[in-house]
Amino acid sequence: MNAEREVAPRVAIVTGAARGIGAAVALRLAADGLHVAVLDLNESSCAETVAAIEFLGSRAIAVAVDVANEAAIHDAVKQVAERLGPPTVLVNNAGLLRERTLAKTALEDWDLMLNVNLRGAFLMSRAVAPHQRQAQHGRIVNLSSTGALGAVGLAAYSAAKAGLQGLTKTLAIELGRYGTTVNAVAPGFVASAMTAGVAERVGVSFEEMQQSIVKDVPVGRVGHPEDIAHAVAFFVDRRSSYVSGQVLYVAGGPKG
Ligand SMILES: NC(=O)c1ccc[n+]([C@@H]2O[C@H](COP(=O)([O-])OP(=O)(O)OC[C@H]3O[C@@H](n4cnc5c(N)ncnc54)[C@H](O)[C@@H]3O)[C@@H](O)[C@H]2O)c1
Repeated sequence: MNAEREVAPRVAIVTGAARGIGAAVALRLAADGLHVAVLDLNESSCAETVAAIEFLGSRAIAVAVDVANEAAIHDAVKQVAERLGPPTVLVNNAGLLRERTLAKTALEDWDLMLNVNLRGAFLMSRAVAPHQRQAQHGRIVNLSSTGALGAVGLAAYSAAKAGLQGLTKTLAIELGRYGTTVNAVAPGFVASAMTAGVAERVGVSFEEMQQSIVKDVPVGRVGHPEDIAHAVAFFVDRRSSYVSGQVLYVAGGPKG
């Protein structure tokens, strides 16, 4: 289902949108008629996503930000509001995975993973919420993961991704009165630089890893960034205004 092409285009912020799932989400929202601020660690890495959005006829800007950094977020959101317009749609997609068993999880691994995956979504939501409240309309979509359900080597990652689900439900309750919905998409395995990195660290080819993963996926294939973008677009759609506080597992089967 395609969203209605926007009459008065909304402004969306997608974090971690230089590549992978974030880039696919940014492109999908642009195709649905939104203007998109492409946020990632550095501006030059966003160039490809911005060019692809402009090719689709929507406006886009690249903004460098570390989502764990409160001051940088304040500046980034201000910049988006000034250059594109007040952001009312926020997709908290920036994420990081360093798989480590409990014994091998250093405090700095824990802090980094919680800071990027969880604190980033809190800080971004807090910075964007005033614009949503002003507009009496808002959409926040958080990228959780099937990792939230637990798996070997995911202590910090699963804590962060499960934490995002709690944040999603509380923000849905707090922000509903201002016309803002808050939902989470929890992907299963998606082919991206993140999962390619896992294959490399584990010492198998990415192809081998995907063949092995597919054996446990009921629909018989791995996920692609566009699969996730489609689910995000559903929550962002203006017509989804009665859907809030939900976690949608997009994993080719009944995970979650
Ligand atoms: N790929 C999967 O199988 C999968 C599964 C479940 C959930 N997810 C989640 O989906 C999201 C996107 O995953 P992906 O596979 O596209 O990952 P990816 O590694 O390909 O892309 C992540 C992007 O986030 C950016 N980023 C990292 N740290 C950042 C920070 N501190 N500030 C700003 N940007 C930062 C990176 O530069 C990168 O562009 C993540 O939150 C991830 O945890 C992915």
